[in-house]
Amino acid sequence: VRAVWCSAFGPPEQLRVEERPSPALGDHDVRVAVAAAGVNFVDGLLVQGLYQIKPPLPFVPGNEVAGRIVEVGPAVEDRRVGQRVAASVGLGGFASDVVIRAHRALPVPDGMTDGQAATFSQSYLTARFALQHRARATAGQWLLVLGAGGGVGLAAVDVGRSMGLHVIAAASSEAKREIARGRGAEAVIDSSGEDVTARARELAGGDGVDLVYDPVGGAQGERALRALREDGQYLVVGFASGEIPKLPANQVLLRNRRVTGVDWGAWAGRDRQANHEMLADVLACVERGELRPVEPMAYPLAEAHRALRDQLERRVTGKSVLVP
Ligand SMILES: NC(=O)c1ccc[n+]([C@@H]2O[C@H](COP(=O)([O-])OP(=O)(O)OC[C@H]3O[C@@H](n4cnc5c(N)ncnc54)[C@H](OP(=O)(O)O)[C@@H]3O)[C@@H](O)[C@H]2O)c1
Repeated sequence: VRAVWCSAFGPPEQLRVEERPSPALGDHDVRVAVAAAGVNFVDGLLVQGLYQIKPPLPFVPGNEVAGRIVEVGPAVEDRRVGQRVAASVGLGGFASDVVIRAHRALPVPDGMTDGQAATFSQSYLTARFALQHRARATAGQWLLVLGAGGGVGLAAVDVGRSMGLHVIAAASSEAKREIARGRGAEAVIDSSGEDVTARARELAGGDGVDLVYDPVGGAQGERALRALREDGQYLVVGFASGEIPKLPANQVLLRNRRVTGVDWGAWAGRDRQANHEMLADVLACVERGELRPVEPMAYPLAEAHRALRDQLERRVTGKSVLVP
């Protein structure tokens, strides 16, 4: 197996592609030839040792993969060689092939490309979990999405639109705002130049927005909190800016606002069945054309360092994948 190895925590440029023996196949396993491995912001933090979880060294990063089954264990009944599947593997995804438990290999609908299949799950499940389970959003509400041209933000635009919300997308570049418009944002804000608070209030009809979806944090987070109307809810999703916002409590008290944490990973680990049902539902929505995950930009596996660097330095519009 050819894989991207992290032997010491440090900049992505330290990663090395090496050929090592493939792991043996267990009775209940399948081997998947990886066609695309999804890159997430977290991967860039993991290899630097900056994420809350530090894997033992050395390790192969990469949580999301899509590809074809090339070998099945003798006890596997419901998967076959040649089948297209996607899987969340935790670690080890930046590789030419992976060995996983058969039940974790999800059949991919025909209409979905390998790139989409390798990039939708973390971003879409986080958005679904946040908007449905945590916020209990209802059709007609106004949703402001920060970092709306990034992976998690763009999925929230798509999921929000599919739930009948009015989506306002804030992003720093025209390309990112354009891709968010393409996923159904009704209005966009230039977060690098415009006054996000005033513009969001104005776009939502004067009173403010019902929901803020924030994967960015920092100063942008606080400005967005101020754009919430009475009983509005601020969803804490992530801190891609590198800065955890200190939200002023008076701004929460005023207008009876609410701040809601979103930890999809923890919930998915605790309630695997519910997460699995949500995943199946998202896939069915994609198949019916109700959700439209973006086609990612592709990098060769050997350029994993460049993919992670571009992601960390906000140069990725939408999503990206490594192609072995
Ligand atoms: N809560 C959960 O369950 C959960 C699940 C998955 C991911 N996350 C978190 O969500 C965050 C976003 O992940 P992602 O995969 O969507 O990342 P991404 O695709 O890189 O998007 C992040 C966006 O943040 C914005 N940003 C602002 N300042 C930035 C800076 N200094 N560096 C980098 N980006 C900056 C950028 O948008 P502009 O250029 O438009 O400002 C960028 O497009 C991460 O912190 C991740 O850990 C949370």
